[in-house]
Amino acid sequence: MDSFELKTQSGIVPIRFAYMNATWVATELARVLGVRRPRLLIVTDENVALHQLENLKSAFKAEGFGLEECILPPGEQQKTIARAKFLLDILAQKKFARDDIVLAFGGGVITDLAGFVASVYQRGIEWIAVPTTLLGMVDAAIGGKTGVNHELGKNLIGSFHQPKMVLAELSVLSTLSPREIRSGAAEIVKGALLAGGEFWREIEVAGVDAMEWSPRWFERFVARGAAVKIEIVSRDERESGERMLLNLGHTFGHALEQVTGYGTLAHGEAVFYGMRAAIRLSEKCGMMPQPKARALDKWIASLELPAAKCTADDLLTAIQSDKKTASGKLRWILLREPGKPVISHDVPDQVVRECAEWLEEIVQSGAEAVPIPRRRRVVILNGPNLNLLGTREPSVYGSMTYEELSKQCFEWADDLNFDLLIRQSNHEGEYAELIQWARRWADGLILNPGAFTHTSVAVRDALAAANLPAVEVHLSDPSSREEFRHSSLISDLCRRTIKGHGPDGYREALTELAFSLPETA
Ligand SMILES: NC(=O)c1ccc[n+]([C@@H]2O[C@H](COP(=O)([O-])OP(=O)(O)OC[C@H]3O[C@@H](n4cnc5c(N)ncnc54)[C@H](O)[C@@H]3O)[C@@H](O)[C@H]2O)c1
Ligand SMILES: [Zn+2]
Repeated sequence: MDSFELKTQSGIVPIRFAYMNATWVATELARVLGVRRPRLLIVTDENVALHQLENLKSAFKAEGFGLEECILPPGEQQKTIARAKFLLDILAQKKFARDDIVLAFGGGVITDLAGFVASVYQRGIEWIAVPTTLLGMVDAAIGGKTGVNHELGKNLIGSFHQPKMVLAELSVLSTLSPREIRSGAAEIVKGALLAGGEFWREIEVAGVDAMEWSPRWFERFVARGAAVKIEIVSRDERESGERMLLNLGHTFGHALEQVTGYGTLAHGEAVFYGMRAAIRLSEKCGMMPQPKARALDKWIASLELPAAKCTADDLLTAIQSDKKTASGKLRWILLREPGKPVISHDVPDQVVRECAEWLEEIVQSGAEAVPIPRRRRVVILNGPNLNLLGTREPSVYGSMTYEELSKQCFEWADDLNFDLLIRQSNHEGEYAELIQWARRWADGLILNPGAFTHTSVAVRDALAAANLPAVEVHLSDPSSREEFRHSSLISDLCRRTIKGHGPDGYREALTELAFSLPETA
């Protein structure tokens, strides 16, 4: 385990890194809290929930924490004041008190948003950052900057609110996509260029191609990348000076993200291009000797970055608008050599233009972007009382517990190469909302609405609106039971109804979807 303390005016923030599991996260927090067991609102997104949430919840339950959760759709579009209000509503409705805690479990979008919400709810409650992206671990979760976007600018609304602690558990990175890995890797390379010395030498020798998913690479460099930020922020929490160095590669990087359309290039890909630009500017301003600059550029260029459309003029316009928001003073972060960064106010316009033209050329001729394949996605939605499985009328529903059934379903889904999410609710409105939510994420649905099958027009309407291939499953055979269980309000909206086959019905439903759902790109 690597352990750091970020000392700021607002207090000390323990920041820990370990290649462990969810239990480590829960026990580390429990240890710091002593006997205190506050309620936690876990804020996460669907991708993280899919792969990591169940383990985290079990670990926190085992430590005796009361849990609430909020799973948001993934993506930068979630970083809005409207989403912040939505989370504030949950905190208020669930009566979170001043000594309860918001736990941000996700990438930078989630830590920025959840941290911001924690900073304003009841004038500020505690929050814990449990980053799940490489970028989150080395950058976004560290430093206490929280916030949301405004239509007129990124991160325009926000606050400084340090988390109570940051717990980075590296094994969660195994499910991150290669492009997201690259995004975080760019910040690590940035840190190494700022720090120089042994850190840079080791990164340089390992090579840029080593930055694919590799537990060894993570173990060697994640905490060290983060340490660069921790050191800088502890000297300049509010970005009045040195913290600006962390913008190395970001002036042109941000401009590229804006000009190519957010999401076309991953943030780190834009920053890699931006670092190449910063190195070129350093050379053209006479700070870095040409051979050194060319060697560094060649090193980064060996990473195959995707091509994107941009023009020098658009890049310059984007940089000018950045300049306006920085009260007219554009500060360039340049390098004399790795380990010797410089903040410069006066890079001649002509040099900047020449660099923008060069960038236009190299970005346009980058590699062809390869779409990232994903598995087909299925959601199983279980209705009221299914959580009691194993204890409720075993003669009708069998002795398998709900946890065992869920585990079994995950195994079946894995065999069929599906990504699976399972949700259960005892509340009709919530069940309808789960269907609405599944509509945005899933390719297919498996529904066991329990008693809602026979009564809920709301569930039927939600399913009709979802317009997803669906299979209806019942553990028992309702038609051989009481009269009131004979009708189903959803059967005609489903491809098939499987009843009376016990847990195996879920396997049959998954198999049905495996044959009928189209392959994804
Ligand atoms: N506060 C700061 O100091 C700071 C610094 C840098 C960046 N940021 C902010 O961070 C955000 C970008 O963060 P990000 O790159 O982490 O983006 P992100 O939070 O959008 O995560 C990237 C993607 O990875 C998915 N994901 C996350 N963890 C996963 C896991 N373990 N397995 C599978 N998928 C996973 C997410 O669902 C998302 O689709 C931006 O909004 C940026 O402004 C903030
Ligand atoms: Zn960045």
